[in-house]
Amino acid sequence: MPFASSLIALPWRDRAGRFSPLKAAVFAATLIPAVLLAIALLRAFGPAAAPGLGQGVIGGPGIGGPGIGDPGIGCPALPSPLPPAGGAGIGGPALGNSALGGPLESPFGLGARPYTEAIHVAGDWAIRFLLAALAVTPLARFARRPKLVGLRRMLGLAALFYALAHLGLYVADQSFSLSRVAGEIASRVYLAVGFVALLGLCALGVTSTDAAIRRMGRAWRRLHALVHPITALALLHYFMQVKVDVTTPALHAGLYLFLVGLRLAVRLRFSPGILVTLVVAVLAAPATAAVEAVWYAAATAVDPARVLEANLMLDPVLGLRPAQATFACGVAFAGLAAALSWRGTAGRPASRDAGSGRRA
Ligand code: HEM
Repeated sequence: MPFASSLIALPWRDRAGRFSPLKAAVFAATLIPAVLLAIALLRAFGPAAAPGLGQGVIGGPGIGGPGIGDPGIGCPALPSPLPPAGGAGIGGPALGNSALGGPLESPFGLGARPYTEAIHVAGDWAIRFLLAALAVTPLARFARRPKLVGLRRMLGLAALFYALAHLGLYVADQSFSLSRVAGEIASRVYLAVGFVALLGLCALGVTSTDAAIRRMGRAWRRLHALVHPITALALLHYFMQVKVDVTTPALHAGLYLFLVGLRLAVRLRFSPGILVTLVVAVLAAPATAAVEAVWYAAATAVDPARVLEANLMLDPVLGLRPAQATFACGVAFAGLAAALSWRGTAGRPASRDAGSGRRA
């Protein structure tokens, strides 16, 4: 029935076409950063913008979102092992860049270079929603809440939306000269990597309709397994565009490793539960530190041993290092899964639907 299927396609309805408060809330949440970003851009470039400046500069908490995502340029991430960032004094104070709870961007101000800042904000949200989409299946499994899988498509499409906005802002920043954009993508490796990731996301996005899932059958699953290489490319793009401090990309990489670890544990037939989640969180922490250390070793002159050492220290001034933050997020994930499982279906066997290839 075309009318019924159009109802199902609405993001706030479940597969049966009923209104879902959870889906509605998540849908609204996916829009908030876009609305704040649009307001910030309007303030920067709209009629109210200061003549000749074209930007708003009012501070406050906001679009960068809570926790992860700190675009600070030139803040040395580590307490002592890293040399001062570039020595140019453009960065923030030499306090380091905490993996969690970095300074929040302001909701209505994009700073001196509005497009650059907006590109960063949209890119941050693209990767966050991508990881959120990847977290849905393990959460549904570990919380024994198969219905959560219904959020996966929405979060994946949100990632695509922010990635396209990210590209759109970049095009705007290049004065809408498509030839210049193409030239930049062809000549800069980090942009080419992001471009391939975006193409992959587009392929997943256009094949995420119910009709495409039915039509493609097994090929759909194979295609959508590409979300992993796509995420890896998006993370690589993130690492590569950073000038000095890879704290935030390292945390995102750590979260991805944690989510992959959960999937691997299920593959290896460990029973999904708190204990397994905590073990995976413990293992993901050194893996995150290793990724960070390898990056510094490959891309800078920083001694990787000192990066690893920094991940072992707890410093209230510096905040959490990526490995510590990954572990903390893993523990939070375990707590959330336990709470959801306890409130709902504790003791019931996990539905086979949770984490199967089916889309809601
Ligand atoms: C054609 C595709 C893409 C282009 C042209 C592009 C371009 C850019 C540019 C210009 C920057 C800022 C670099 C700088 O300031 O030096 C950036 C950063 C970033 N991009 Fe992309 N990108 C693309 C695809 C993607 C995709 C697919 C994702 C994620 C799914 C992504 C996530 C990010 C992130 C997370 C950042 C860093 C944001 C921050 O530091 O706060 N990008 N990208």
